[in-house]
Amino acid sequence: MQPPDALRNLDLLVVGGGVAGLSAAVRAAAAEPGLRAAVVAKAAADHSATWWAQGGVAAVLAEREVERPSFTDSVESHLSDTLAAGAGLCDGEAVRVLVGEGPQRVRELASFGAHFDRGASGRWLLAREGGHSVARVVHSGGAATGAEVERTLVAAAVALGVTLVENWFAVDLIVRAGRCAGVTFLTADATTVEVGARHVLLGTGGAGQLYPVTTNPLQSTGDGIAMALRAGAAVADVEFVQFHPTALDAGSPDGPRVLLSEALRGEGALLRDEAGERFVDEMAPRDIVAASVADRIRSSAGGHVWLDISGVSGFSARFASLAERVRQAGVDPDREWLPVAPAAHYMCGGVMADLDGATTLPGLWVAGETACSGVHGANRLASNSLLEGMVFAARAVEAILAGKSSPDPTGVLRALNAPAPDDGGAIRVKRLHRSAETATGPVERPSSTAPCERSAGTVSDDRRRLQKAMADGVGVLRDAGSLAEAAGVLDVIGHQYGCAHKDVTSGVASLEIRNLAEVASAAIAGAQARTESRGGHRRSDFPSTLDAMSCRFVQ
Ligand code: SIN
Repeated sequence: MQPPDALRNLDLLVVGGGVAGLSAAVRAAAAEPGLRAAVVAKAAADHSATWWAQGGVAAVLAEREVERPSFTDSVESHLSDTLAAGAGLCDGEAVRVLVGEGPQRVRELASFGAHFDRGASGRWLLAREGGHSVARVVHSGGAATGAEVERTLVAAAVALGVTLVENWFAVDLIVRAGRCAGVTFLTADATTVEVGARHVLLGTGGAGQLYPVTTNPLQSTGDGIAMALRAGAAVADVEFVQFHPTALDAGSPDGPRVLLSEALRGEGALLRDEAGERFVDEMAPRDIVAASVADRIRSSAGGHVWLDISGVSGFSARFASLAERVRQAGVDPDREWLPVAPAAHYMCGGVMADLDGATTLPGLWVAGETACSGVHGANRLASNSLLEGMVFAARAVEAILAGKSSPDPTGVLRALNAPAPDDGGAIRVKRLHRSAETATGPVERPSSTAPCERSAGTVSDDRRRLQKAMADGVGVLRDAGSLAEAAGVLDVIGHQYGCAHKDVTSGVASLEIRNLAEVASAAIAGAQARTESRGGHRRSDFPSTLDAMSCRFVQ
């Protein structure tokens, strides 16, 4: 089918309707002269991971803008907290861009109409979250910041006349003469459409659905990262899946978990074990708290850990949407401690990009969770995610407007083709060949001519099988044996679904498994190669952090 008129002759085709994609489209449409831009998303706005984001946006704002206690903040402090959380794998140049340009992006969002919570003086209130040395997170509705960001950006995009298409699934990138030239979609009525564009930006979010227990929406199936891998764009750091330590361990076991925002711990909520004792510094970076919660659950008789929110004054009023969801899950937050467990939350790695979001495939740009811009390293600092989407989407559009058409050796791309290791202080890169190592030895990845053979089970059964393999083998704690087991399962599923593109009418559910398997295999390959523990990647067989592993695995 031919694309509709609104999707022809595009300067910028944005895939994904969250903070990154919408920020790019709004900037493109607002420019003078503007770019002809469109956003195509696989679901409605309230199904984007952005909508679900809670904590807020970390940014060092001016004293006159915020209700600030006695301390002062600085960009250098935000920089050093981000680097510390990233456990040695952040790209310093990229982090400097993030923290330096972040405040301006927050003000811009407010100028579009975003309402951030204000104190008695009318200035913005700041929350403190894990890993931050001071309170520096602006928020909305207590912990409903993502919904406000999404609402604001959708309204801005509509006001600027940006074409927004929902319920179209991106199947694959179109690559012509070494350039990304568009995207093939499966429309809501299961028709295949090729949409061409001078530039394509992926803001498709992460891959929380790799795991059965996740805070991410059902749509977070790693689509952008998988498409980029298939198109040959460089991808890195995907072994660093961040687990959030405090997802509500109650309610339906199927479907995404209710996230209990870190802002609660910033307001005095405490983690308690079965004896009622505290066991970790609640304000430590997320990887440390998640590992500690997982460890305490494993070693306790009943397998429980709780978040005690009795010290959070006015919880139900200040965090109204959260309180409502906790009640819906059958827990009374006014009377009970809240049962918690770690849940897959954020993909720290992704498609490698320079400081403008340009990938190694000319014409392809990324921003937000889909990207490996180098700002998160081995573990993302709380509330740096919405920020990353805003900052790097804006930079991508500015670069396109300035006529840039291929990547520069900046940020994480600086070391990619560097002749010598440690060139200019960049983290070294090591290339991984994606033939998975399994319990039975190396296995060739399926070729596109291999026959498609499905197992007897349903597509949902296969998705659950994949998720279980990831939870068992590539969870908060992994080792060589668990990774090999997971690789074995993923090879089978990857083979079965790897050729789903031949029959796109097999539907979105099959194509999502194809993408999940692609990203899972990459995550396993990275985790097998990384014989150390660092940030969100913890191996029981290699518990130390090694200088020799201060590198990025690129696939
Ligand atoms: C949270 O509110 O705890 C999550 C915020 C984030 O993922 O940065």
